[in-house]
Amino acid sequence: MDCPERLGVLLLASLLAVAFAHHDTGVHKNYLIIVRRPYEYDHKLYKDVSSWHASLLASVCDQAKEELEADPANAPRLIYSYRNVVNGFSARLTPDEIEKMSKTDWFVKAVPEKTYQLMTTHTPRMLGLTGPIFPAGVWNRSNMGEGIIIGVLDGGITPGHPSFDGTGMPPPPAKWKGRCDFNSSVCNNKLIGARSFFESARWKWKGVDDPVLPIDDSAHGTHTSSTAAGAFVPGANAMGSGFGTAAGMAPRAHLAFYQVCFVNKGCDRDDILAAIDDALDDGVDVLSLSIGDDNAGDFAADPVALGGYSGIMRGIFVCTSAGNNGPIAGTVANEAPWLLTVGAATTDRRCLADVKLGNGLEIGGESYYQPKTYVSVLRPLVRDTGANATCSDKSVLTSEHVRGKVVLCYTGGNLTNLEKGSILHDAGAAAVIIVYPELAGSVIAPKAHALPAAQIEYKSAEKIEAYMNSTQNPTARLIFRGTVFGNHRSPAVPSFSSRGPSRQNPGILKPDISGPGVNIIAGVPMPDGLAQPPNELAYKFDIMSGTSMSTPHLSGIAALIKKAHPTWSPAAIKSAMMTTTDTRDRRRMPMLDYDGAPANMYALGAGFINPTRAMDPGLVYNLSAHDYIPYLCGLGYSDHEMNSIIHPAPPMTCRELPVVYQKDLNYPSITVILDKQPYAVNVSRAVTNVGNAKAVYVAFAEAPATVSVTVTPNRLSFTEVNQVQTFTVTIASKKGKLKKRITEGQLKWVSLKHVVRSPIIVSSKKFFQKNTTTADQHTANSQLTAGV
Ligand SMILES: *[C@@H]1O[C@H](CO)[C@@H](O)[C@H](O)[C@H]1NC(C)=O
Ligand SMILES: *[C@@H]1O[C@H](CO)[C@@H](O)[C@H](O)[C@H]1NC(C)=O
Ligand SMILES: *[C@@H]1O[C@H](CO)[C@@H](O)[C@H](O)[C@H]1NC(C)=O
Ligand SMILES: *[C@@H]1O[C@H](CO)[C@@H](O)[C@H](O)[C@H]1NC(C)=O
Ligand SMILES: *[C@@H]1O[C@H](CO)[C@@H](O)[C@H](O)[C@H]1NC(C)=O
Ligand SMILES: *[C@@H]1O[C@H](CO)[C@@H](O)[C@H](O)[C@H]1NC(C)=O
Ligand SMILES: *[C@@H]1O[C@H](CO)[C@@H](O)[C@H](O)[C@H]1NC(C)=O
Ligand SMILES: *[C@@H]1O[C@H](CO)[C@@H](O)[C@H](O)[C@H]1NC(C)=O
Repeated sequence: MDCPERLGVLLLASLLAVAFAHHDTGVHKNYLIIVRRPYEYDHKLYKDVSSWHASLLASVCDQAKEELEADPANAPRLIYSYRNVVNGFSARLTPDEIEKMSKTDWFVKAVPEKTYQLMTTHTPRMLGLTGPIFPAGVWNRSNMGEGIIIGVLDGGITPGHPSFDGTGMPPPPAKWKGRCDFNSSVCNNKLIGARSFFESARWKWKGVDDPVLPIDDSAHGTHTSSTAAGAFVPGANAMGSGFGTAAGMAPRAHLAFYQVCFVNKGCDRDDILAAIDDALDDGVDVLSLSIGDDNAGDFAADPVALGGYSGIMRGIFVCTSAGNNGPIAGTVANEAPWLLTVGAATTDRRCLADVKLGNGLEIGGESYYQPKTYVSVLRPLVRDTGANATCSDKSVLTSEHVRGKVVLCYTGGNLTNLEKGSILHDAGAAAVIIVYPELAGSVIAPKAHALPAAQIEYKSAEKIEAYMNSTQNPTARLIFRGTVFGNHRSPAVPSFSSRGPSRQNPGILKPDISGPGVNIIAGVPMPDGLAQPPNELAYKFDIMSGTSMSTPHLSGIAALIKKAHPTWSPAAIKSAMMTTTDTRDRRRMPMLDYDGAPANMYALGAGFINPTRAMDPGLVYNLSAHDYIPYLCGLGYSDHEMNSIIHPAPPMTCRELPVVYQKDLNYPSITVILDKQPYAVNVSRAVTNVGNAKAVYVAFAEAPATVSVTVTPNRLSFTEVNQVQTFTVTIASKKGKLKKRITEGQLKWVSLKHVVRSPIIVSSKKFFQKNTTTADQHTANSQLTAGV
């Protein structure tokens, strides 16, 4: 069997130039090869796991063998050899070579390369503005996350951005072993790590040759990093709308940045695995991944699930995005129960910019750029005379046409609204009215602009057009009403936030929780398409939406909780967040979904994060990494699949473990399926006391009249901190088969100081008829899966 010429050299910890020949015929593809335990490598023969992986590869690939013999120090043809996240490596291989490999006794499976996506959305689909107002008490108790290291996997970062200023930051803790590849004026005690992982991506995408420095080319990574751990930046603003001091959720935490995504391309699975592999050894405390794949499949093939498990084994909190594929059911990504899966919700800030016409008619709008220098007087109102009136043609938007006037522009054409604004600004226009697409309905995402602007909905534009038709000399002025807090219908779920039920484990409620993810202001290199920033800091902050934005909020909050409670397990931190959420909006009514109906648990998860209460939950539903092993067996995973997930834990055999069903995993939410006689189930749970030593909790269950929820015992007395008590929840239909597909309720443990709330979902049917267990999928992929 022919091997290609030397394809790549494994460089796990070096930035040396990689020499390789581009004799790629297209036959070779990137594969992740999972190998079998207990075939441990012989430490006498191989100095480390990567030379062992190289020898396995060489055994099926003649040329690799020659190279290995010529220079045993080299690990030929390997792209990555993994130490922590999986027992395996990635390499470029032909189908023939895979076939040959599949006959060896060490081979478990070969997974073809896969691309993941960042979970942002540029689609302005939802109203409501940014910014959790942080209770000072949380920062006080957690010292703003000082000494905690947040690892962010994303698309790149802006060197020298004020959000990553290290002034006043203490040095990282001694356990930090990572690397920062920027120079010493960029790397500091805030930005302690910065690396790019592209060894796998470079084979797939042109232009990803040697980024070396993980510089942001799309703003996404700067935005997420500054949301999680950005330093205080006084005077920060999005295009002049004053928002005071910007700061991340954990402003004194350290930031370790791992570039795994490339603009307009995506994120390569094997690069993600390599970054997590290194982050674990580097010493991060929290991992923030605004990355996912809606069709990631089972946990044994998903880098976020695989790396996440190795992370929680070391006590690292792993925070991930639910995805932006809502409102369709069953779209949630990153479903493994050891991950925190974060949905998006709106916050209560709006930035009002209305339009007043010459005839007195006033039209509501929004905008972030509301300069104080704008003089609100009636000025001539004109249309763009270019094609489709989208203000896209520079030659039409001449100075004589627009100077000193208010210009009406439709969304569309090939320019962003900011670029259009720049053209108008250069031509001397006084202000712009931007009409949102008809599809967006009443939903406007206020944006930054280059000149005074109001964004209005499509319906309102008809009123302006009618007025313009009715008069010889139409006029208009903008009225800036500034930032208005108290959007009473917030938080609410935007349509894009991905929904449960989980496809991989329908017996676990996913997403777990919601956080601010609509119109979030955070650091960027500069706003999209902006030619002339109106002031110096304006171009350093911008607005983005997505579960990519809610995830780093929760990562930063996890860092604060970890700082305040250093001995808590990742599961305990997650439980603290989930059992203390808000479920009512500012009207004190149930939170709404995008369509105005109350949001269900598959949209909201346990609810909207409440950081103050999460710091002091009273009780937690704890889990160790080991507790997920019988759970995986119960889901139908084979021993090999289960062992490849739990690596580097010692191999286990499902047969020798107790069976744990999904409903019985000690999770902070409860999901049961009552699809057969006797339409009743027992659910077991255990709570750990993390409040005062002496405490008494009484159970209160709420459910619709058709379902009974009984808790035994219904009173728990604690005498010590960390004491664990178990209880059973019996959930039964009162009249046989339930009529409603989904019934929601809740269980509250109430003491004098605490309310520990778990959502309950009762489904009358299995969510997915087939493919609920991974066993089915394994058969489907059997041509790539060898062994038992
Ligand atoms: C925390 O609160 C205490 C008591 O209110 C105060 O003395 C202390 O300065 C605060 N610390 C920080 C870091 O804000
Ligand atoms: C440090 O790196 C940044 C970003 O790559 C660059 O702009 C700056 O000039 C460098 N500074 C020095 C002193 O080399
Ligand atoms: C005008 O809009 C139509 C329909 O959306 C589109 O097909 C056409 O390309 C647009 N013209 C220009 C010049 O943008
Ligand atoms: C954008 O559209 C205009 C007018 O339709 C056209 O002249 C121009 O070439 C387009 N620019 C790009 C970059 O596609
Ligand atoms: C305004 O006039 C134009 C052409 O005269 C017409 O196409 C359009 O429908 C009118 N718009 C309204 C809202 O009356
Ligand atoms: C939770 O379980 C872990 C692992 O068994 C343990 O280390 C931790 O002390 C437990 N309690 C809390 C509150 O995290
Ligand atoms: C729940 O547990 C109780 C007590 O062990 C038992 O009597 C009952 O039959 C169980 N119910 C179900 C549906 O398993
Ligand atoms: C089950 O999975 C197979 C293979 O992935 C797919 O073709 C099939 O449509 C799935 N069936 C259902 C009901 O989702």
